[in-house]
Amino acid sequence: MRAVAVFPGARVLRLVDHPEPADPIGTEVKLRMLDVGVCGTDREIAQFEYGTPPLGSPYLVLGHESLARVIEVGPEVRNIAKNDLVVTTVRRPCPHSDCRACSIGRQDFCFSGDFTERGIKQRHGFMTDLVVDEERYMQVVPESLRDVGVLIEPLTIAEKALRQVWNVQERLPWRAPASSLGDGQGLNALVLGAGPVGLLGCLALLVRGFDTYMYSSGPADAEKARWVESVGAQYLSSRTLTPAQVGEQIGNIDLIYEAAGVASLSFEMLEVLGINGVFVFTGVPAQTGPVPIHSSQLMRAIVLKNQLVFGTVNAAPSAFQEAIADLTQFEQRWPGPLRQLITGRYPPDQIEDLLIKPSFGIKRVVRFAES
Ligand code: BGC
Ligand code: ZN
Repeated sequence: MRAVAVFPGARVLRLVDHPEPADPIGTEVKLRMLDVGVCGTDREIAQFEYGTPPLGSPYLVLGHESLARVIEVGPEVRNIAKNDLVVTTVRRPCPHSDCRACSIGRQDFCFSGDFTERGIKQRHGFMTDLVVDEERYMQVVPESLRDVGVLIEPLTIAEKALRQVWNVQERLPWRAPASSLGDGQGLNALVLGAGPVGLLGCLALLVRGFDTYMYSSGPADAEKARWVESVGAQYLSSRTLTPAQVGEQIGNIDLIYEAAGVASLSFEMLEVLGINGVFVFTGVPAQTGPVPIHSSQLMRAIVLKNQLVFGTVNAAPSAFQEAIADLTQFEQRWPGPLRQLITGRYPPDQIEDLLIKPSFGIKRVVRFAES
């Protein structure tokens, strides 16, 4: 069967003939892959800067943002049936019994670093025709999300981040213990970066009631700016507003959700974080040389304003469930704008265009099957 493979040793990216998986046994489920999204991580792997093939394999099958159709289930599968639409999680636990995170199924917090990730680290991914995996790593997706379900995995980044924000903001004495979705009413959130993770994060903040702003480098009349305004957030262009002016315009910034992956911009924006505010990093920047920052100013502000800065990676099954619930809401509230996030579906043999040539659009997807 077809698979998009990266050979880091030979520095080659190509479509290969990959062995078909065996029929599912026990609690395994066999999937026909429909859509697989392409993200910055995939492009880095395709440029041999990241990613590791499984032990003994010369290549890694790419792809971690998936939507698939169940074609067969093992005899012990209980909650998934043939013809269901499913999304599969990315990270698998490390083998160490003393890893407190992995031993409770929270490998997104793995301590040892020996976790694996489908399509990224020592485990083949989803850019292929058929996949077999365990039921416990899958979530059923409603049929109404067939068109946009490939956005679930990138949305889980925001889901985990916002869950953590509510958890840490329980430190504020007047906040009730986190309600199921949290309540952003009366709070200001600023999103950095207008890629898929930023734009989906924008929607997640809006449904929670935040006054939501996007700060990005495109001009205020660009397509993405119009998209941001069409869903009810405000677009601020770094071409016309400095970080300080952004701070003045918004007022107290309660949350900065970073999804740009640019270190210099992030630390500049940390300077405008508000009182009792939280700054969440989700982007993985390219490794560059040192960048000057106003370290004493930042430290003073973090202390004198009770601020908190944290990073977040990957996502638990609960974040996938929350992403499915949120995407269902987005679909009802913004059906047009949501579909506009997917800017192209390509056959697997156009993989060079997607992974090597300059990137454009928002979320581009490899389509393996229609239904
Ligand atoms: C994926 C995560 C993964 C991270 C680091 C991201 O692109 O969405 O699942 O943990 O890369 O490998
Ligand atoms: Zn990704």
